[in-house]
Formats: sequence, structure tokens, C-alpha cells
Amino acid sequence: MEKEKVIVAIDIGTSKVTTVVGEVDELGDLHIIGFGESKSKGIDKGVITNRNDAIKSIRESVNLAETTSGFKIVDAIVNIGGPHIEYQNDKEFLTFGVSQKEITHEDIESLHAKVISKASKENYEIIHALAKRYIIDDENDVLDPEGMIASKLEAEFHIILDKQTSYYNLKKVIESAGIFPAEFVANSVASATSVLYNEEKEMGVILLDIGAGTTDIAIYIEGAIEYTKSIPIGGNQITMDIAHRFKVSKEDAEALKKEHGVAIVEAVDPEETINIYPRGYEEPIEINKSLLVETIEARVLDIFDLIKKELQLTQLLGKVNAGIVITGGVANIQHLKTLAEASFGTDVRIGKPKDYRGFSEKLSFPQYATSIGMLTMLRDSTNIISSPELNRNHGFFNKIKEFMDTVRNWFY
Ligand SMILES: Nc1ncnc2c1ncn2[C@@H]1O[C@H](COP(=O)(O)OP(=O)(O)OP(=O)(O)O)[C@@H](O)[C@H]1O
Ligand SMILES: [Mg+2]
Repeated sequence: MEKEKVIVAIDIGTSKVTTVVGEVDELGDLHIIGFGESKSKGIDKGVITNRNDAIKSIRESVNLAETTSGFKIVDAIVNIGGPHIEYQNDKEFLTFGVSQKEITHEDIESLHAKVISKASKENYEIIHALAKRYIIDDENDVLDPEGMIASKLEAEFHIILDKQTSYYNLKKVIESAGIFPAEFVANSVASATSVLYNEEKEMGVILLDIGAGTTDIAIYIEGAIEYTKSIPIGGNQITMDIAHRFKVSKEDAEALKKEHGVAIVEAVDPEETINIYPRGYEEPIEINKSLLVETIEARVLDIFDLIKKELQLTQLLGKVNAGIVITGGVANIQHLKTLAEASFGTDVRIGKPKDYRGFSEKLSFPQYATSIGMLTMLRDSTNIISSPELNRNHGFFNKIKEFMDTVRNWFY
């Protein structure tokens, strides 16, 4: 293994753009060596709403990560999320002319190419074709068929697609910010990579990444991804409820939520008071904290109800034995786990990014699950099968190599 591999991920969220620079050591451990974050502007639920603002936000975040890491960033792995994302589960197989042969990497790639061409949908771009499992000769389930002898190779795939308009607008904005997006990853897949344990995936688990604008859902059954969805609900709605009810600015509402945010009214001392600054008042006014928490609890329960409706439609719940893991910024709200357990009627764990070193005082929070997950995926990049467009034009693995070479240039 190369001694020093520098990799970069950019999480373009509704509230923030985070850039993380990681270094993979000779043992394959991931060390974070740079971090940059900017307020996200011109981007809403993965859709570009203002090009110039979006470019500035990305550039600002990248500049900070360049300063902290000392590297010039040219390429990165970038996330995609939002209701414009869709999935398909499909199967494909290859039979070999000869009675039996050794399965090669090329065979696996041509199976992927076959499923990608079948999954193609007008006006959609394929982001992932994730192999859930391989089956050889109709009977043996194998994780990695390369090198095995068989006469038939079959695979089940989870395919994630994004609307072409959202995809190309996002891609163009990243390129205009001076970064080549070497790979795109769905939010849910990235977050699941950094917070879920293999045992949970084997037992069947639901991952919820509740961010500012979207809730990204992934369901793993028997170790493999079975369902992904990105629904347009998140912490911004809690903020807006606070702003409306207490007649404070959106910024004040956001600060109140983060500073005093609790998910359960009973967990708050009914006598406790906080100061708020409503519009038109010269002086702050005092309110019971329980009023604020009441607003938060009601909206969080509403968000959970919408998620429950989506989950029920999947008809997978009977196969989920490890409960729910919640990550994303909203997971920071105190006592959210307890409220979620009562609402969903199952075990809930708050998921934080794992398996990395460095910057942990900054990054050990649920809102960094996507960024760290993307770096982990890039580190273990054999798991990534890029979209046909990227395969065709650039070749992901060559691109990564080029990227490693170029990123090594120190600034000065
Ligand atoms: N300590 C906290 N208490 C309450 N809410 C919080 C806290 N920290 C973050 N949040 C909320 O989490 C949300 C941001 O989460 P996150 O950073 O995961 O979103 P994002 O990735 O920018 O957006 P999205 O993924 O939806 O596009 C905001 O609504 C923010 O107010
Ligand atoms: Mg996010």
C-alpha cells in the first residue's frame, strides 16, 4: 500500500458545506488532517438555487480545508441528497461459454455494466450500482466472487439514481468552484458507512440522517442495502416553528434550538426560564424553557410520523432486528433517542462517525457522518462503482491515482 494517500470529501448540505481532508496511513487507518466549513448558501436539499452563492460557499469551505491541511485541493468525493433521488433493486447474471471458468475482475465489471445499462432511465443519472450479493451457479452466496470457479455469475444490485438536472447543476457548480468531483455518493450511503456496525447491517437496521433540509433513509437487510430515500424534512422546520411561535428571527430561533434544544418536555424543569429577543421588543423577554421545548417536541414527533409513513410503505420492517440509528445534526437534540424510542416503538441509537483519527473534538458529532463516511468509502474505494459517465470518461481508479499525485503539491 502507498505510504501516504491524501483524500478529500465535500459534504454539500442544506445548512453547511464541510470539507474534510484525510490521510490514509500504511495500515489503512484514516487520519483527518484538514477541515473547513462554511454556511451553505444557494443550495437547498441538494438543489442549486443560486449558482454564485453556491460556488462561494463551496470555495470558502475548501479554502479553509486547504489552509488547515496545507494541501491544494483539486478533486473530491461529493455527496448527493434530496427528494430527486430514486432507487431500484435489480438482478443480473452472466453465463460463461465454457462450462466453468475463473471469475475475473473484468467479468464483475461487465456484470455491473449490464445492470447499469438496464437501469438507465431517461432524465436520470446513475449514482451507484451497489452489489448487494453475488450468487455463483445458482446456489452459493459469496461476497467477492473474483478468482472463484463458476459457470454462472449472478448479482443483486441496489441502484441509486439522481435527476439529471439536479445532478448536472450540482456538478457544474463544484467544477466552477475549481474542484473536480471525482465521485458522487448518496448521503444515506455515506452516512451509513461511517455510523453503522456490520452486525447491525446483518441483523437489519434503519439509518436516518436527519439534517437541516432532508432526512436520508437507508435500510440494510441481511448485510446489504435494500432501500434508500431522501425526504424533504429536517431541522429547518423546527427552527421555523420556533421563529413563528416566539416571533424571533430565523437566526435567533436556530440559536435557541441549539442552545436549549431538548426533545421531551418532561425532561425540563417547569420553572426554568430563558431569554428571547422577539421582533419589536427593545429588551429581552423571559419565557419558560418548557414552551420552547414543547415546540421542538411537537415538530420532532411530526417528523417521526412522516418517517414512519415512509418506513411502513417499504414492507421491510419485519426484517429489521437492530432497530434504528439516527444521525445528522438533528440527532444532537438532547433526549432525542428517548423520544424516538417511544415514537417508533423500537431500539434507537444515536450514530456518530467512527473509524477515523484527528480533529475528533470537531468531528465527533452526528452532522459529520456524511463527510467521514465519504472518506471511508474513498479509502476502501473498491466498494465504489462509479456512474457510467464517470467510468466512461475518466475511469475512477485512474482518477483517484491522478488525484493522489496532484494533491501532493504543497501550497508554497
Ligand atoms: N445541538 C443541536 N441541537 C439542535 N439542533 C441541532 C444541533 N446541532 C445541529 N442541529 C440542527 O441540525 C441541522 C443541521 O444538520 P446537518 O448539518 O446534518 O444538515 P445538512 O447536512 O446541512 O443538511 P441536509 O443534509 O439536510 O442537506 C440544522 O437544522 C441544525 O439546527
Ligand atoms: Mg446532510
